[in-house]
Amino acid sequence: MTAQPAREDEAAPQAVSSGVPAHIGPGDRVGLAVAVRGLVKSYSGVPAVRGIDLTIRRGEVFALLGPNGAGKTTTVEILEGYRTRDQGEVSVLGVDPGRQRVKLKSRIGIVLQSTGIDPYLTVRETIAMYADFYPHPRSPDEVIELVGLQDKRDARVRRLSGGQQRRLDVGIALVGRPELLFLDEPTTGFDPSARREAWGVIKNLATLGMTVLLTTHYMDEAQFLADRVAVIAAGRVVAEGAPETLGDPGLAATRIRYRPPAEAAPPGGLTAVPGPDGYVEIMPEDLVEALHQLTGWAIDHRVRLDGLQVIRPSLEEIYLALTDPSSASGRPAPDRGGDQPGGGTA
Ligand SMILES: Nc1ncnc2c1ncn2[C@@H]1O[C@H](COP(=O)(O)OP(=O)(O)OP(=O)(O)O)[C@@H](O)[C@H]1O
Ligand SMILES: [Mg+2]
Repeated sequence: MTAQPAREDEAAPQAVSSGVPAHIGPGDRVGLAVAVRGLVKSYSGVPAVRGIDLTIRRGEVFALLGPNGAGKTTTVEILEGYRTRDQGEVSVLGVDPGRQRVKLKSRIGIVLQSTGIDPYLTVRETIAMYADFYPHPRSPDEVIELVGLQDKRDARVRRLSGGQQRRLDVGIALVGRPELLFLDEPTTGFDPSARREAWGVIKNLATLGMTVLLTTHYMDEAQFLADRVAVIAAGRVVAEGAPETLGDPGLAATRIRYRPPAEAAPPGGLTAVPGPDGYVEIMPEDLVEALHQLTGWAIDHRVRLDGLQVIRPSLEEIYLALTDPSSASGRPAPDRGGDQPGGGTA
């Protein structure tokens, strides 16, 4: 169900304190959309979130990355006020979503991982219906424009493509003029051009000053949209930062590549590993020094360095290194036994 479904997973009382976490000083409070400290959540005794800390500034686009079952949706739903937490301090727009969900409801927009809109309503009727829930809604036509569904204004929801339905989900989330938008996998199942279009919509929202928290499995999406990302593995944040500077530089190395002439070995001190494609690769400790050494040697000895490239690790490579269960950074997922998503404690 999209927008404001009743979806508490359990009625157990929460062992939480309210308000802004103590580590957030008064000066920071104004600028923060989300502040989370020590968030913990289990389903039937099986931990899903194991102590997450997060801060998201107002106006920021923040992406949560992580493998299936890492705890992204659980975290997002706790922030939305649709799931209770076991421990930790959470502030969303200055409100504790666990205690003051009603206060928060009209100030946030939500796109859930899976949706359940009435398939027999038209696009316009659907948006108009949701608009009735809010004190100062956007007009349905403005929303339709924002998400680029003008051609489908009078089409029934069941006749929309998957990508168009997802746009409608985003539209519904925008109806109430939210300050903060939650997008759980907004472009899963989109074809490449629909994804690009959706990115345009989200970028546009960001330029209007909206704060966006999204989850995604697409590294290019995170790279394109997010000011900052956090990688979650097995319920913990394993890295956080701007997409271009994420992770420990030692995790995935910058490489120098070139196609050497048959007889030429690289200058002393540099180890060039031959690859299957005729290139050799050097993984230098100091990139600038190694490039200087290599190119100086090539000029002095009139050696051609065909196809010379410097390859920086992509966000995807860093992500894979961070979430690799066999590496020091990636944390192995615990044995979940018969635990199934969507089942359990309801
Ligand atoms: N309602 C539920 N009842 C029981 N266990 C659940 C429930 N929802 C999620 N879980 C479990 O909690 C863990 C975290 O799930 P969550 O949905 O938060 O992961 P996710 O990071 O969003 O994964 P995905 O990328 O597949 O969407 C998983 O092991 C999942 O099986
Ligand atoms: Mg999820």
